[in-house]
Amino acid sequence: MKTGINRQFRLANRPVGDIKESDFEYREEPIPNLAEGEVLIRTIYLSLDPTNRLWMSDIPQYMPPVEIGQIMRGIVIGVVEESKNSNFQPGDLVSGGLGWQDYTIVKENNTLSLTRLPNPLPYPLTAFAGPLGMTGFTAYFGLLDIGQPKAGETVVISAASGAVGSVAGQIAKIKGCRVVGITGSDEKCRWLTEELGFDAAINYKTADLESALAESCPNGIDVYFDNVGGSILDAVLMKVNLNARIPLCGLISAYNATEPVPGPYNYSQILMKRVRVQGFLILDYFPRLSEAITDIGQWINQGQIKYAVEIVEGLENAPLALLKLFDGNKKGKLLVKVSEEPT
Ligand SMILES: NC(=O)c1ccc[n+]([C@@H]2O[C@H](COP(=O)([O-])OP(=O)(O)OC[C@H]3O[C@@H](n4cnc5c(N)ncnc54)[C@H](OP(=O)(O)O)[C@@H]3O)[C@@H](O)[C@H]2O)c1
Repeated sequence: MKTGINRQFRLANRPVGDIKESDFEYREEPIPNLAEGEVLIRTIYLSLDPTNRLWMSDIPQYMPPVEIGQIMRGIVIGVVEESKNSNFQPGDLVSGGLGWQDYTIVKENNTLSLTRLPNPLPYPLTAFAGPLGMTGFTAYFGLLDIGQPKAGETVVISAASGAVGSVAGQIAKIKGCRVVGITGSDEKCRWLTEELGFDAAINYKTADLESALAESCPNGIDVYFDNVGGSILDAVLMKVNLNARIPLCGLISAYNATEPVPGPYNYSQILMKRVRVQGFLILDYFPRLSEAITDIGQWINQGQIKYAVEIVEGLENAPLALLKLFDGNKKGKLLVKVSEEPT
């Protein structure tokens, strides 16, 4: 065993309603020695994502939930500290689905799940957790492949100031659409319109949503990029145009629900307006990620995609930081900085 300490969070309880700090168990363990073929990754950034909440619950979902007592699963950007695998050298920067801990050993048969980041880095490392990471790719394929926006159409995006929504909105602008974002504060509304170029933004916590949508979308809604579900989806359904498309990306308004979630109440509009609603998962697009990397990279270089990262310092703060995804107390991509970036 190495002498260093590996701090980690394990799942202690399946949360009921909102996540609590006590749903996680903090442990310190020695860093195990590497076997032949294995790679030791030091976590630099831990990505906090709404799907973490789903993984904590034993509900039907797209991958097995984290078991009680297991290290909490998380997307990590890290650096190879040690390698007994000829495909990885110390200093290589990688990303992958690892865990809430300082160090992860990746076994030889799992190393294919690691993505090697470019060297030298063409963008700040945090960009690979945001627009050039899973959330940016989700925005790209959900909007373009499922939403199929055309120039002149109106695109509405919920959770628009978040990691996925902020990128989806900017891509819709690049495609020549009128873009309306829905988010939870006036400050975030201003960020969307003044910094990211959205045409309008609605604070769903203070506005009457149906009348605000009527005002912001005078020609109706052609594409609704749904990150939220619930009452926002219902309000949008009353304004959709004939043959509208709804990429169903996420349902964050229901992730903490303790009772079955009713609705959508305006479901009939899907029939009346011949709307195509399609759920999608970024996992299904893994063979095509290079398309997104090329386009988004170019748009960042041209200043057409801007991004924000909210960085919480210290692995010890990860459980409470996760709440920011649900109370909206952040802008852009939420990350925990676990250790220093290599110089
Ligand atoms: N399909 C896929 O493959 C895929 C991949 C990644 C993410 N997703 C989904 O995409 C959505 C956005 O993910 P993200 O990583 O970009 O998260 P995020 O938007 O960065 O963070 C979540 C945001 O949701 C908003 N929110 C929270 N509770 C809400 C509620 N009850 N009603 C309305 N808004 C609420 C909050 O902002 P406000 O201030 O606006 O309230 C919060 O900042 C999530 O539903 C996630 O599960 C899907």
